[in-house]
Amino acid sequence: MPACRATAALHAIHAQLRTRTAAVHAALDARFRDGLLGPGRYAAYLLGMHRTVTAFESTPAPPTAPDTPARSGLLQADLDALGLAPLAPAPLAFASAAHWHGAHYVIEGSALGAGMLLATLRGHALPLAFLQSHGHPGARWRAVLAGLECFSDTEVPALCEGALSMFAVAEDSFARADRRL
Ligand code: HEM
Repeated sequence: MPACRATAALHAIHAQLRTRTAAVHAALDARFRDGLLGPGRYAAYLLGMHRTVTAFESTPAPPTAPDTPARSGLLQADLDALGLAPLAPAPLAFASAAHWHGAHYVIEGSALGAGMLLATLRGHALPLAFLQSHGHPGARWRAVLAGLECFSDTEVPALCEGALSMFAVAEDSFARADRRL
């Protein structure tokens, strides 16, 4: 990881990650196009996120990793409150630190959508331990974006591969959740 980019090139790597993952994010988004209040939608969201986040948290973090809050316990608490057993764990491994950071971008980026989803659920009788914690991106997201720009151009393919592998786990997890419900 070389010295971080100066402001002129800031967000160059973020832009590449965003472009490379736009289609897979759109596919996930489409699964929830009518929000989380329809029958089984919130349960599907919790089941899918639990499997995705647990896979990430179960994979060793490199020395370059920032402090990352554990979220699988919050998801487990919400699943318990709804009487739902989690999905079987997903296999996941990262070939390099850059792969891990690409996946970390996905996990932290999911907080942006979570904030929006949380706003739609307030006032409903649902367990919200995960979304109330995760749905406030802010400083952590800004730190992720700044950290991405510390990678060299040669590491961008590995960042993108890590992000795409994390999104693949998410897509597979939400598909499994839909089959279960
Ligand atoms: C469940 C329904 C979801 C909705 C409605 C949703 C919605 C959103 C929204 C509104 C943004 C902000 C876009 C912007 O500011 O331009 C966002 C960003 C993002 N979401 Fe989602 N999201 C969902 C699920 C997920 C999931 C499950 C993941 C990954 C596990 C994910 C990963 C990301 C990432 C990485 C970004 C950052 C994109 C960027 O680089 O700006 N999202 N999402």
